[in-house]
Amino acid sequence: MNSAKVEKEIMNKQVVLNLKNFQAHLPTKRGVVRAVNGINLQITQGKVLGLVGESGCGKSITCLSLLGLTKEKGWVIVGKAQMQGKNLLALDSEEIRRIRGKDIAIIMQNPMAAFNPLTTIGQHFLETIRSHLSVSEKASREMATKYLGHVGLPQPDKLMKQYPFQFSGGMLQRVMIAIALAMEPKVLIADEPTTSLDVTIQRQILGQLARLKEKARTGMLLVSHDLGVIAQMADEVAVMYCGYIVERAPVEQLFNNPLHPYTRALLASKPQMQKKPLQAIGGQAPSLLNLDVGCPFLERCNEKNRRCSHYKQKLIQYDHKHWVGCAKYSAEQRMLNHGLA
Ligand SMILES: Nc1ncnc2c1ncn2[C@@H]1O[C@H](COP(=O)(O)OP(=O)(O)OP(=O)(O)O)[C@@H](O)[C@H]1O
Ligand SMILES: [Mg+2]
Repeated sequence: MNSAKVEKEIMNKQVVLNLKNFQAHLPTKRGVVRAVNGINLQITQGKVLGLVGESGCGKSITCLSLLGLTKEKGWVIVGKAQMQGKNLLALDSEEIRRIRGKDIAIIMQNPMAAFNPLTTIGQHFLETIRSHLSVSEKASREMATKYLGHVGLPQPDKLMKQYPFQFSGGMLQRVMIAIALAMEPKVLIADEPTTSLDVTIQRQILGQLARLKEKARTGMLLVSHDLGVIAQMADEVAVMYCGYIVERAPVEQLFNNPLHPYTRALLASKPQMQKKPLQAIGGQAPSLLNLDVGCPFLERCNEKNRRCSHYKQKLIQYDHKHWVGCAKYSAEQRMLNHGLA
């Protein structure tokens, strides 16, 4: 598909956040940490894009760097993160502050960093509501208690007077979710929002997120290790490996017909009802400091061939909405293009 066609599709699908050749690198004394390596992702109004991949593959850095929230100074973030005609990467911190909360909200994997330790949960909540919506103090207080209740936090009135250090990480995440539910943002970035919750609360939160998507048509990027959560919530899934997106497809297609050997290995490591033995993915992902030429999955792949050692990661369109970045499919595509297959 040519780029004009892709752009048209993006417009038609009502893309609310469009990442183009998005990169996040951190120069360190030991070398450059290549955490995110030129990814392209679109988040569409009223849809959930699931983002999966092994620990350390760059999911959180993608979420944080979009909004200039990476903890350490020195991250080099390039490419585009386009939202409502603006590139988020080009905005200054004041402009970002203005759109955060109302237009784009984030639920962080480590939420403690998002809260001022000297401010109560209630003040946090009310400040966010009142800086974006013109509602009275009384009305915003009622909103806050209502939504804290929606995420299963008991005695919201009492919690409003407490400080972040009195909350667990999972509780702070639920406060962030409650704020997002109240603000109904256009885009919600949710980084492992249910990992530290027990199953009943998890179900409640997922129900609330699904309602937000229906009611406010919020487009979501949902990061989760839990493939069950992804299967339940996502419309489309992107698979990340070593800072690259290696496969992207509608959720059913990805689960029923995974193409990339890494995606297959990842799905084989998911518990099944049939009690098949779980398949761990052998070996280790290479260090992001030493991403040499060739496929980063090469050493762990049981389908590798001689093309893989000089393969340059690039997604090709395998099927209408199914994209994969693997030498095997690039070769097939080339043969098809030349009428040889
Ligand atoms: N300050 C830092 N210094 C060096 N490397 C870093 C730093 N911050 C992040 N990284 C590296 O960037 C990579 C991406 O980290 P990230 O937190 O995005 O992983 P993740 O996919 O979210 O993992 P998890 O599933 O465990 O949350 C990791 O390999 C990590 O080691
Ligand atoms: Mg993470």
